[in-house]
Amino acid sequence: MNVTQTHSHAWTDECDAMQCPDCGGLLEPAEAGIACLGCRRAFPIRDGLLDMLKPLEGNNKIAADFYNGPLWPRFRFWEWFTFLCNGGERRARRQIVKYLPNLSGTRLLEVAVGDGANLSLIPDDCRVYGNDISTVQLSNCRRKHPQRDLRLFLGEAENLPFRDATFDNVLSVGALNYFSDPLKSLKEMARVVKPGGLVVVSDEVPNLPNRMIGHWIGLPKLDRWIMSRFLHLGPEFTDMVDKHRHLQLEPMVREALSDWQIHSLWFKVGYCIVGRPKGK
Ligand SMILES: C[S@@+](CC[C@H](N)C(=O)[O-])C[C@H]1O[C@@H](n2cnc3c(N)ncnc32)[C@H](O)[C@@H]1O
Ligand SMILES: [Zn+2]
Repeated sequence: MNVTQTHSHAWTDECDAMQCPDCGGLLEPAEAGIACLGCRRAFPIRDGLLDMLKPLEGNNKIAADFYNGPLWPRFRFWEWFTFLCNGGERRARRQIVKYLPNLSGTRLLEVAVGDGANLSLIPDDCRVYGNDISTVQLSNCRRKHPQRDLRLFLGEAENLPFRDATFDNVLSVGALNYFSDPLKSLKEMARVVKPGGLVVVSDEVPNLPNRMIGHWIGLPKLDRWIMSRFLHLGPEFTDMVDKHRHLQLEPMVREALSDWQIHSLWFKVGYCIVGRPKGK
């Protein structure tokens, strides 16, 4: 069996833990993928990636275009630079992953896994499932971690294709603020985690643009130019960042999780939500 076949089998073997992201129906292995017994939708598996994406809208469409396109690799320099200012990428990411318990022998879902930059901090004997809306990022993830037994699927964080209480823990880094529906995705993460498991979600503080120079001197257009052209976010992603600078984390977290805390990270540039599923 070659590597791609192994990954395809890995998915068809998972049907018992999964549900249709559209109708919640049971899934079964089908030709070249998985199919829903309820709505009959077919989900192909290509190169080991399970494709559960529908045509995207709103923020998720803007994000997918950005992460599939040429701007993200250019913006990445600034992500790296932010990590550098916080002791280097590994150290900065460890400040998030440290909130998870010992992951050896457990099942972890990483929502919006991207190209798998957190994987080197996760033990090899942890079974990692990763979703994303970007084909390019998931292909990069597979390419960068050829030896890992990963289960990667294209799908939105707002509709996770797993049954309740499937995972020991859930992690998501660098994505929540701009999901089309951050509250729904937090509730989904809480739904799929087992009683006693943790949901750990980190991102930049939403109001970070308020610290930019244009905000202080009354020239918002300057900030837009910096974000769009200098930082390479492009006009659509910049609009999205601008629109969400007032996103309130606490009310969402209160509604989705219990026993939660929001920790400040990286000299208040980032946050890390740590919570448990409600009523389990
Ligand atoms: C800044 S990257 C972070 C990647 C990775 N988690 C990391 O720590 O490096 C954000 C990722 O979120 C993904 N993303 C954005 N919206 C999403 C959604 N609604 N559902 C799933 N993934 C999403 C993007 O495609 C992108 O790969
Ligand atoms: Zn269905």
